[in-house]
Amino acid sequence: MTLYFKNNIPFIEGVNLDDLSKTIETPFYVYSQKKIIDSYEHIKNTLNTNIYYALKANSNQAIVTLLKSLGAGADVVSIGEIMRALDAGIKPDKIIFEGVGKSKNDIEFALNKKIKQINVESIEELEMINEIAYSLKMIASIGIRLNPDIDGLTLDKISTGRKKDKFGISFDKINDICALIKNYQNLNIKGISCHIGSQINDPSIYEKVFIKMKKAAEIMEERGLSFNHIDLGGGFGVTYEDEKELNLKTISNLLKKIFNEKYEISFEPGRYLVAKAGILITKILIVKEDDHVNYIITDAGMQTLLRPALYNVKHNIVPFSKNKKSKKYTIAGPICESTDIFLKNFDLPIQSIGNYLAIYDTGAYGFVMASNYNTRNLPTEILINESNHAIIRNKENINEIIKKDIVPTWLKD
Ligand SMILES: Cc1ncc(COP(=O)(O)O)c(C=O)c1O
Repeated sequence: MTLYFKNNIPFIEGVNLDDLSKTIETPFYVYSQKKIIDSYEHIKNTLNTNIYYALKANSNQAIVTLLKSLGAGADVVSIGEIMRALDAGIKPDKIIFEGVGKSKNDIEFALNKKIKQINVESIEELEMINEIAYSLKMIASIGIRLNPDIDGLTLDKISTGRKKDKFGISFDKINDICALIKNYQNLNIKGISCHIGSQINDPSIYEKVFIKMKKAAEIMEERGLSFNHIDLGGGFGVTYEDEKELNLKTISNLLKKIFNEKYEISFEPGRYLVAKAGILITKILIVKEDDHVNYIITDAGMQTLLRPALYNVKHNIVPFSKNKKSKKYTIAGPICESTDIFLKNFDLPIQSIGNYLAIYDTGAYGFVMASNYNTRNLPTEILINESNHAIIRNKENINEIIKKDIVPTWLKD
């Protein structure tokens, strides 16, 4: 557990969160460095493949730098993320660029930075990259992102590998792709890739993906293409509620059985590396009790942690204060939206205004999805390393948010 109690006092590693919460304005995110290191080493040692950290899960520069120091490459989806990866010291040949919609500018930027490969998601993009590389007098290193039409049996909104999803190139187009790549002079195919979705806990789904990807590689080789890299995406699930823990050893055995060490294999995990390392600390603004619902309204809301409102998912919530008597509460944020609810009818020791709550497993797709909705400022982020803590992002200043807007002269007195 990232957060634990010693004599009823909440700790992350050696840092007392009671004390920290009194000095840092809530809500704030706090991450355990040790937990991230442990998760990385577990993946690395169990799978023994290349790891490209998917920055989209948590792109704080301190977290990217930490993962770089452990040996991770970067899986990126924008110029901003390429810049973050490079700034953290990740070498261009350890950066893979994904995304179903890349602009000319994005492609030029990636080519000029000489990153490892651009994963291509459509025939149209293939043509576009070839043209841009030609105009820059370059050869573009590419991967072909395939859509294997496999259901990750995860939330519909984070499913990306079914035919109807917008991602990747359908297997039906493999022959066309091979012909085009052979014809285009400014492309160099390095490999194939896929990513069928996030929060996948069943290894048998990975088995289906591996088998299909190996078949695709064989067909493409038969059609005269030559490459040795298979990038199998991210998606490793974590346990937020009662999900079965994904057994990475089983994944490792499947890799050996199916690919037989013939290819350079890569994964692009995001969530698995950071989700369990993060906790969101929030303060109770009001306890609003009435006949049918007891509401706890917290200063964190959908503007701080969007996942519950966006995906209807649950994050466990643990109070700092332990009261023997408990009650059922609906825990909600302060935003003017009825969907701004974290948990409904949830048993908690009796709470009062000013108490702190810890919202668990919020290290991935937490801060990165936070917004200024209702003109609220993005929260502080803190990294804990043993008994030290460091602010790794300051809380935004509300005045600066307002100053970004420009009132045209004709509206001024
Ligand atoms: C192409 C690609 N790779 C990797 C990831 C990371 O997924 P996860 O955080 O589930 O590991 C994503 C997530 O959307 C993705 O789209």
